[in-house]
Amino acid sequence: MRARPTTLPLGLEGPWPHRHILDLDTFSRREIELALGLAATMKQVLRRDVKKVPSLRGKVILTCFYEPSTRTRISFEAAGKLLSADVITMQSAGSSVEKGESLVDTLLTLQAMAADVLVLRHPHAGAPYVAARHLRHTAVINAGDGTHAHPTQALLDLFTLRERWGALEGRRVVIVGDIAHSRVARSNLWGLVRMGVQVVLCGPPTLLPWDLLQGRHETPGHPFASVEVETDADRALEGADAVMVLRLQRERMETGLLPSLQEYIALWQVNERRLARARPGALVLHPGPMNEGVEISPGVAHGAQSVIEEQVTNGVAVRMALLYLLCAAGGAKA
Ligand code: NCD
Repeated sequence: MRARPTTLPLGLEGPWPHRHILDLDTFSRREIELALGLAATMKQVLRRDVKKVPSLRGKVILTCFYEPSTRTRISFEAAGKLLSADVITMQSAGSSVEKGESLVDTLLTLQAMAADVLVLRHPHAGAPYVAARHLRHTAVINAGDGTHAHPTQALLDLFTLRERWGALEGRRVVIVGDIAHSRVARSNLWGLVRMGVQVVLCGPPTLLPWDLLQGRHETPGHPFASVEVETDADRALEGADAVMVLRLQRERMETGLLPSLQEYIALWQVNERRLARARPGALVLHPGPMNEGVEISPGVAHGAQSVIEEQVTNGVAVRMALLYLLCAAGGAKA
């Protein structure tokens, strides 16, 4: 891959090295900082009276979602439109997918329509990687693949924390809930660890990502060596700077992983009493959609410490930054 050298509006020389955005495991701390810095510039654009800028005029962005989405799809579409790109939405319902067309054939068709960027959400882990392998002229952004990864959500979570704190290094972030089935948690793990955050994973043992954590204490240089696991939510929240709450992904669960919803609520719901164990002013994040009264109490979800709505606004700014990096900073045409 050869990218066109360019000067980014951050004053950084050099090309953006990623042709696609598939997950954060391949992102260095510097690249994450660059993306977050550019997102901060984009957020200033969002605050203007006239929000539209011409940066991606003439570019075509396709969103292709094979799973439900509110925030992710709409924020990508808003981001593309605010940068003056043409944004086309493909709904899998009503398309030739229903006539049995394969994913690869659908994607090649979309590429043939001169798409510069394809934003893909798919129920199967790895689908965006298949897309990236087959598409020569179109950059792929993973908008969530099965239980595997959701890198743009993790970047907007990092952005939200960094905007509040200034720096991320040394902070303590507790992720509570169904981590095993959460692509948000998995991408956040890579991002948070890379930024020097102390991560604590908390949830029922049946919903923890043991596959990712395997061998972390025995294998030298294991990326998640510093990650703590604490199944007791009261203890996990002790001293937390932020709590990231996750939905129970019942659509991805086999049966028998939870004794009962009542027990989950009693032991792991993030409510006012539990949140009081965290540092004063600890931030509460949730990627949405929330099941209020299950993983989070309504008082915490809408309370003074919640930054859940800020996450949504930041999602537009971060996705503007990523589209810009792929289209205008050398990625897409490489
Ligand atoms: C998440 C997703 O789809 O992975 N939501 C999102 O993108 N904001 C989390 C979820 O569905 O629970």
